[in-house]
Amino acid sequence: MVSSGVASRLFAALALATAALARPSLSTKLTHEKREVVHGQWTKVSRAAADAPLTLRIGLKQRNLARAEELMHAISNPRSESYGQHLSPEQVVDLFAPGEDAIAETEQWLISEGVASDHISRTTGRNWIKVTTTVGKAESLLDTAYSVYENDDGARLVACESYSVPAAIQGHIDLVAPTIQFDEREAVITTRELKKREEALAPKLKKLPNGHPQADSLKNCSEVTTPACLRALYDIPKNVKAVEGNSFGIVEFAPQSYNQDDLNGFFSVYGSGKIPNGTAPVFNGIDGGFLSTDSGSGTRGESNLDLCYAMALTYPQNVTLYQVGDSVVWQPATNNNFLDAIDGSYCTTDGGDNPDWDAMYPHDSSSPGAYTGQPMCGVYNATKVISVSYGSNEDARPASYRARECAEYMKLGLMGVTVLFSSGDTGVAGLRSQCVKPDGSYTPVAADYGRFNPMFPGTCPWITSVGGTGLPEGKPVGTREVASYNFGSGGGFSNLFPLPAYQADAIKGYYAQHDPGYNSSRYNNTQQVRGYPDVALASQDYITGLDGSFMAFSGTSASAPTFGAMIALINGERLKAGKGPVGFINPVLYAHREVFTDVVEGKNPGCGTDGFSAVTGWDPVTGLGAPNYQKLKKVFMALP
Ligand SMILES: *[C@@H]1O[C@H](CO)[C@@H](O)[C@H](O)[C@H]1NC(C)=O
Ligand SMILES: *[C@@H]1O[C@H](CO)[C@@H](O)[C@H](O)[C@H]1NC(C)=O
Ligand SMILES: *[C@@H]1O[C@H](CO)[C@@H](O)[C@H](O)[C@H]1NC(C)=O
Ligand SMILES: *[C@@H]1O[C@H](CO)[C@@H](O)[C@H](O)[C@H]1NC(C)=O
Ligand SMILES: *[C@@H]1O[C@H](CO)[C@@H](O)[C@H](O)[C@H]1NC(C)=O
Ligand SMILES: *[C@@H]1O[C@H](CO)[C@@H](O)[C@H](O)[C@H]1NC(C)=O
Repeated sequence: MVSSGVASRLFAALALATAALARPSLSTKLTHEKREVVHGQWTKVSRAAADAPLTLRIGLKQRNLARAEELMHAISNPRSESYGQHLSPEQVVDLFAPGEDAIAETEQWLISEGVASDHISRTTGRNWIKVTTTVGKAESLLDTAYSVYENDDGARLVACESYSVPAAIQGHIDLVAPTIQFDEREAVITTRELKKREEALAPKLKKLPNGHPQADSLKNCSEVTTPACLRALYDIPKNVKAVEGNSFGIVEFAPQSYNQDDLNGFFSVYGSGKIPNGTAPVFNGIDGGFLSTDSGSGTRGESNLDLCYAMALTYPQNVTLYQVGDSVVWQPATNNNFLDAIDGSYCTTDGGDNPDWDAMYPHDSSSPGAYTGQPMCGVYNATKVISVSYGSNEDARPASYRARECAEYMKLGLMGVTVLFSSGDTGVAGLRSQCVKPDGSYTPVAADYGRFNPMFPGTCPWITSVGGTGLPEGKPVGTREVASYNFGSGGGFSNLFPLPAYQADAIKGYYAQHDPGYNSSRYNNTQQVRGYPDVALASQDYITGLDGSFMAFSGTSASAPTFGAMIALINGERLKAGKGPVGFINPVLYAHREVFTDVVEGKNPGCGTDGFSAVTGWDPVTGLGAPNYQKLKKVFMALP
């Protein structure tokens, strides 16, 4: 897909970046990371036994991550000469893997300290070195002391509060684990189960007392959203054809999963008479992924909603379901477990995933529904569009964990994959409407104070964050939409990720024209951070099959698969025209505001405030506004 010309130019430029430096000796060690406070929930119970086995994972600094901006510009900016010339997975590995010298010097250090070479191994992405050793040996390697800590739930871990690495190789090392990673924020999350889960954004549901709307009527679109309403709102074509090789993926995490009878019931009314009974997504199970037999909105709502719309809007195009995770609830699957399964180089089952946060397989066979196989690694190709309606608070995991995951979305973009996430359903507040106190802990649920609590991956600059809109009450299709009002559309500004270049003009314009009226105690108002969402679409009262009947769901969970369907259809058109997929779309979107109907009314309240306001131009409630399919298609068809 990539022309060798572009690849070699990129690589030549990158080679220049490596320079030889005089190095200090291995015997001088410098503190590499230190934890200032160990928060309340963790109590030190004892020193760790010196002879206890320990697997150390040394994360080496990837090269070129700092050049994300430049690389994404080269491939995704419509004005770049190399627009659309995506990289192969092999090229991506070569671009980011640490240099051979960094790997070799780190291994030489371990060997010089007496670690046997057969206890040292490398991961596929070449950025982690795994060392099977003991606590005592790790203590001498890292000049530290390990202790056993226990939390309120009785969970135990081995950790230390600071560690050192040789000055000579410190520049190669990102982090060593397990060391100081146990997370402070855990104190605010009450159960171990909630600690790790990617949460379904849990769309709100409404019963429909008077039956359900007719499939082709546009009379009720402000009250109930149907596929026909969405086609009318965004100019989405009705008669589409499948294009060989085109693909659209939806990700669901256990215990959420869809029910075929519910899809059948939905398609029988809203499938335009075209979707045969029994039409199912292509099932890609990951790490024990299964279809649950539960009933009710709690475990079916999210999946049924996502699939009803992804499939209805793109049929007869295939939709692929990545169903992630087994039923071991105390160690649920995360985005990292999903990413491992679609990218063999990210797949760091032998090194990079974080045992404090990600599910570690095989699971113990004594747990009911346990997946006892090996963690899935690079077993599926990524679909060219991936929509995910799950998220968590940006600060719920360490910054390094967030940065690693966000960098993976950037790599998927370089490979031509469009990744979309719902922006959240609690306005400027976090999950369960919680905000952040000055000490970093959370306010009580829906308290009326605290710092805004942005949602991840919405705040990652390398995904497309999808917010929510609605037709004003009682108004027909054709009326300008407003920000969602059944719930607060997730939006705001990151506390971790700097402002990406593609968004700079939009943010500058926003602050030049509007004063959000909050100081830095509420959010990072430096104007130098990533703002989200990027776009917004209908999000209210989507009619959905559930338990043999219909319910109406509201949430940005609905908006993301709708926008994903539009991008998948555009990829199909490009494929037919002999072009590649659109990949990371934000630079194109921000350069073509004319494809959007700006949303200028509404707010996203939270933390006792009105949140931000939808205004003329980009805003942290509805982004650039609501897209028009035909206009968007025209823009992408004109690009190489
Ligand atoms: C409008 O929606 C209600 C349910 O909310 C339904 O009873 C009614 O039939 C719908 N009208 C049309 C024209 O679809
Ligand atoms: C859809 O998926 C099925 C099952 O994987 C496959 O046999 C078929 O070729 C796919 N169709 C298209 C148009 O890609
Ligand atoms: C639809 O297919 C399901 C199996 O998925 C079957 O149980 C059901 O009877 C079918 N319904 C109709 C109307 O054919
Ligand atoms: C993934 O894509 C490659 C290249 O198109 C193909 O050879 C391979 O069979 C695909 N693998 C799967 C699991 O679909
Ligand atoms: C706000 O973001 C800027 C830019 O990333 C950063 O330099 C600054 O430290 C952040 N401020 C706070 C209070 O976190
Ligand atoms: C922000 O405003 C509040 C209320 O006026 C005030 O209490 C707080 O100290 C201010 N924070 C900063 C950083 O100025």
